Amino acid sequence: MRTRITDMLGIRHPIVQGGMQWVGVAELAAAVSNAGGLGILTGLTQPSPEALVREIDRCRDMTDQPFAVNLTILPTIKPVPYQEYAQAIVDSGIKIVETAGRNPEPFLPLFKEAGIKVIHKCTSIRHSLKAERIGCDMVSVDGFECAGHPGEDDVTNMILLPLAAKRLNIPFLASGGLGDGRGLAAALAMGADGINMGTRFMVTREAPIHEKVKQRMVDASELDTALIYRSLRNTARVFKNGVAERVLEIEEQPGETRFEDIQPLVAGVKGRELFAEGDLENGIWSAGMVVGLIDDIPSCEELITRIVAEAQAIIRQRLDGIVAA
Ligand SMILES: Cc1cc2nc3c(=O)[nH]c(=O)nc-3n(C[C@H](O)[C@H](O)[C@H](O)COP(=O)(O)O)c2cc1C
Repeated sequence: MRTRITDMLGIRHPIVQGGMQWVGVAELAAAVSNAGGLGILTGLTQPSPEALVREIDRCRDMTDQPFAVNLTILPTIKPVPYQEYAQAIVDSGIKIVETAGRNPEPFLPLFKEAGIKVIHKCTSIRHSLKAERIGCDMVSVDGFECAGHPGEDDVTNMILLPLAAKRLNIPFLASGGLGDGRGLAAALAMGADGINMGTRFMVTREAPIHEKVKQRMVDASELDTALIYRSLRNTARVFKNGVAERVLEIEEQPGETRFEDIQPLVAGVKGRELFAEGDLENGIWSAGMVVGLIDDIPSCEELITRIVAEAQAIIRQRLDGIVAA
C-alpha cells in the first residue's frame, strides 16, 4: 500500500504506533518499525532529555528503519523542560516527530530547521487546519473513540475523517478506534493516508507491560472504557476499572471537582507500577473503545502483516466486487 504518508515517512505500510506514556519504549518502537510501520518513542517516558538520547540510541541499535519521537505538551504537576527534550530530539538526528496536547508552534522553527517532519495529533478539524496553517507536515486526526485525550467535542471518526479529507491539503492519519484491516480499509476510503494506533499496539508481545494488563484488554468489550476528568475539561478515555469508577463518583459529587481529591488515585507513578506489576486496581491506564475488537496478543510483525492483508482483501474482493456487480 502506497500513500502520501508512506512516501513522506519512508515506511512500507501506512500504519503508525502513536506515542504512549510508559509503553512507547525502544523495544516496541523498533518492533513496529522493523515490521514496516512507524514506531514512535514517547519522549516524556524518559525521565530526562539525556535519558531520551540514550533511548533513541537503544532504538537505533534495534532497527535501521525510520522511527519517530512523541513530544506531548500537556499540563503536568511537575514542570517539564520541553525545550530541552526538543533539543535532545534534534541533536539525536531524529527526522520525524509526533507532537500532541497543545499547539506545537513554539517548537516548529527548531524542528523545521533540522529537516524534521512534524505530525501533529489533534482532536478537531479546527485544530487540524491550524496545524496545517502553522506548517505541520501532516496531522493525526484523533476521534472520540481514542485512548487518552479525545478533547471535549465528542466527534467520532466517521465525521472527522471525511471532514479532514474535504478541508485539509496535507496528508493525515486516522487515529482512534483502529485495530484491524476493516479499520484500515475504511480509513483509507474516508480519505486518510494511513492509520495511527495506540491501544492495539499495547496488546502485542513487544509492548513492555504486564501480561495481566494485556489479557484484561483481550477479555474486555467496547463498553469497558470510561471518560474521566470531564468535569475538569481535560477529558481522558481510560480502561474502566474500579479506580476509574471511583474517579467518576468523585466527579459526580455536587460542586466543583478539585484535582487534589482525585490525584492520589490517578498519580502517574501508580499507572506505571500497574503496567510493571499487573495489579489491575493500582491506578488508571489509557485505553480506547477498540479494546472491543482485540482478541489476541500477536507480535507487531504478525499484527501489521495481518492488518495490511485484511485491508487489501477487503479492497480487492469485497469492495471491488460490489462495484463490479
Ligand atoms: C497507554 C496509552 C498511553 C498514551 N499516552 C500518550 C501520550 O503520552 N501522548 C500522546 O500524544 N498520546 C498518547 N496516547 C494516545 C495514542 O498515541 C493514540 O493517539 C491513541 O491511542 C489512538 O487511539 P486508539 O487507542 O483507539 O488507537 C496514549 C494511548 C495509550 C493507549
